[in-house]
Amino acid sequence: MKKTVILLLSIVIGLCVIGVSFAVESDGNERKGKYVYRQECRQCHKADSEAGAPNLSPDSKTMAQWESAFEKENYSELECAKEWDKRSEEELNDIFTYLHKYAADSPTPAKCL
Ligand code: HEC
Repeated sequence: MKKTVILLLSIVIGLCVIGVSFAVESDGNERKGKYVYRQECRQCHKADSEAGAPNLSPDSKTMAQWESAFEKENYSELECAKEWDKRSEEELNDIFTYLHKYAADSPTPAKCL
């Protein structure tokens, strides 16, 4: 009897944990995202860029603005759309995770130095 209760309790707790992890949408690797962003995007998106691109850091946008920027129909309209196409889906998810986590209205806003 005791064992059944414990078993049922662990199933309920397990389901709660799964529910929480599904609620978080930015599930990429933030450290990889930062690395790829600095290697592949930052050369244009820095201050005084010759490409005429805006200086973009995680805190340049709010979380909602990053979510919208990473919708395919939005970034495929950008001047740098071909730079996005060069990145794998996983890399884009990692970049998104990094930018979103340190967005202007996140608990930990950050600049990309
Ligand atoms: C070859 C230079 C170059 C590279 C590399 C590049 N971009 Fe861009 N990006 C631009 C230019 C130019 C614009 C257009 C600026 C404008 O029209 O305001 C732009 C626009 C953007 C915008 C919209 C700007 C805004 O303020 O909303 C985002 C977001 C963006 N790029 C993200 C990225 C990401 C992510 C990467 C890496 C995968 C990347 N860019 C790589 C040149 C570049």
